[in-house]
Amino acid sequence: MSSPDYRHTSILWAGPEHAADLAVMHAQLFPQPWDKAAFETLLSHPGSIAFLARIATPQPQTIGFVLAQMAADEAEILTLGVIPAHQRHGLGVKLVEAICRAARKSEVRKLFLEVAQSNAAARGLYGKLGFEVVGERKGYYEKPGAEAETASVMALKL
Ligand SMILES: CC(C)(COP(=O)(O)OP(=O)(O)OC[C@H]1O[C@@H](n2cnc3c(N)ncnc32)[C@H](O)[C@@H]1OP(=O)(O)O)[C@@H](O)C(=O)NCCC(=O)NCCS
Repeated sequence: MSSPDYRHTSILWAGPEHAADLAVMHAQLFPQPWDKAAFETLLSHPGSIAFLARIATPQPQTIGFVLAQMAADEAEILTLGVIPAHQRHGLGVKLVEAICRAARKSEVRKLFLEVAQSNAAARGLYGKLGFEVVGERKGYYEKPGAEAETASVMALKL
């Protein structure tokens, strides 16, 4: 079977009707997955912006997502993921850039997110896009049977 041509990845708006797709991908990436109902609620919120990454070949498949929430002139990325077999092909960057463009159009001036201090991949991605660490939240990520992990708060001026 031929491998995907990532240059032809589509970045598509996501709404509540995509909640199931998002939940399936989220479960592949995070130890405490959000279910379909949680995504439906988040995607139904008026300030929500979300995108999916979809490849057409070798077969149509949704392989990444990003979800953010806007409030006045600020927004926060709530979750982002690219499924493991398709990581490291620039899709994470494309998804975050789509959020940046959509947020700018809505007159958002600053984009925030929280990221675990041990998450080298996400920190690398956000650093590459110009996000800077602006604070930290101790004990933010609870881990069953282990000490909760500190999150860095990162921000990007749009
Ligand atoms: C973080 C994540 C979304 C990155 O997606 P991706 O499509 O692989 O990212 P990209 O291919 O766009 O990578 C962009 C840059 O991020 C950095 N990066 C990505 N993966 C990396 C890794 N495993 N190690 C170190 N840096 C990495 C690199 O700087 C990379 O640029 P380069 O490929 O030119 O070196 C993906 O690893 C993922 O889904 N992780 C699990 C879920 C998660 O942690 N989400 C973020 C929560 S805050």
